[in-house]
Amino acid sequence: MDESYVQIAFCGVLIFERLSCLDIGFWYPYFKWFSLNLELILPKIYLSNGVEFIASVDQTILDAARQNNIAIEHSCRNGRCGVCVALVLSGESEPIRNEESLGTVEIANKNILTCCRIAVSDVHLDIEDLGVIGSLPLLTLPCRIDRIKHLNDDVIEVVLRLPPRSNFTFIAGQYIDLIHAGIRRSYSIANTARLDGKLELQVKKVEGGIMSDYLFLQAAQNDLLRLEGPRGTFSYRDDGSENLVLLATGTGMAPIKAVLESFKNLGIDKTIYVVWGAKRKKDLYFDTGSTGTKHKFVPVLSREKQIGFFYGYVQNAVLDLGLDLKKTTVYACGSEIMIRDALALLVENGLEKKRFYSDAFVSSN
Ligand SMILES: Cc1cc2nc3c(=O)[nH]c(=O)nc-3n(C[C@H](O)[C@H](O)[C@H](O)COP(=O)(O)OP(=O)(O)OC[C@H]3O[C@@H](n4cnc5c(N)ncnc54)[C@H](O)[C@@H]3O)c2cc1C
Ligand code: FES
Repeated sequence: MDESYVQIAFCGVLIFERLSCLDIGFWYPYFKWFSLNLELILPKIYLSNGVEFIASVDQTILDAARQNNIAIEHSCRNGRCGVCVALVLSGESEPIRNEESLGTVEIANKNILTCCRIAVSDVHLDIEDLGVIGSLPLLTLPCRIDRIKHLNDDVIEVVLRLPPRSNFTFIAGQYIDLIHAGIRRSYSIANTARLDGKLELQVKKVEGGIMSDYLFLQAAQNDLLRLEGPRGTFSYRDDGSENLVLLATGTGMAPIKAVLESFKNLGIDKTIYVVWGAKRKKDLYFDTGSTGTKHKFVPVLSREKQIGFFYGYVQNAVLDLGLDLKKTTVYACGSEIMIRDALALLVENGLEKKRFYSDAFVSSN
């Protein structure tokens, strides 16, 4: 009697082991078969440089690329900046959010925003991936406020301290999402990698803004927040041009500062111009000379005439430099309007469109 109970129990254990996922060897061929068929069923995205990846039906093409450790151009991830635009060579996709920044001509010419669309068939896109940026792990980490300093009346520097050995790696120019009390906003990292691993942000006060109200009015040293990143593809690439123009308005200076600092280690052999615009002199809150990288600084004011300052808009100040725009690359960061107007004016005056890289600080709520 006792013996048969033991036999039954033994059989039970064997069946459980067979059925349970513990016996990987038994289940492996089924997993393999399933994943191979999944690969056949799910749409594939093909890029023009031969890179390809699978996109599941519940994620945007941009998110699918990220999940496969492939970086394609992007910034805001919500359809507002237009950086992720891609020409569709073949295949079908559907929008899951409004492609706000696409004009009617672009739509008619078969352009899509990869941050807004899911693939519903295999899709061939006329874009290339960006190599190394895709391999940087996207992390969600706790972080503490290390320091808050006023840079002027309406811009603060917020320094974040990350957990030791958190291995947060990024390329100068990228941004993070800062998360506090369920609110998430994007902020550019204003430094190149520091030995102590801290991240500097430059935050502008937005009237009635939830995150900026918190950071300006309530935040204190050692407050615990979360961050997600690195995000975005705004970063320096050597495309052989003679001149580099780093263009910023307001806190658009944050990623420009990071890129300038990174040049110290890269030893860039080009003529570098930093053109920074604001309404008034008091709004130019940072001395770009402190980055240690040799450059020509052009301060621009749109509401105040001052000796030594260009009066007008940053894109006009670039034209005023008299550069051969065919031999120039522009990195522009700041307000959406500046980026749209600068692109239009500079391309009209000889700049190649593909040599205009931008990060528009659109609203990230
Ligand atoms: C890729 C990226 C990088 C960014 N980097 C920086 C940075 O380095 N420094 C920085 O200060 N900001 C940056 N921003 C903007 C930032 O993410 C927030 O949008 C901004 O701080 C406002 O957040 P908030 O919660 O204070 O305001 P919200 O509560 O989101 O908005 C309050 C009101 O202000 C409007 N608003 C929000 N953001 C903006 C904006 N940027 N311009 C005009 N109106 C706005 C909203 O439409 C709303 O009416 C970046 C945005 C993006 C997409
Ligand atoms: S519109 Fe897609 S990343 Fe901004």
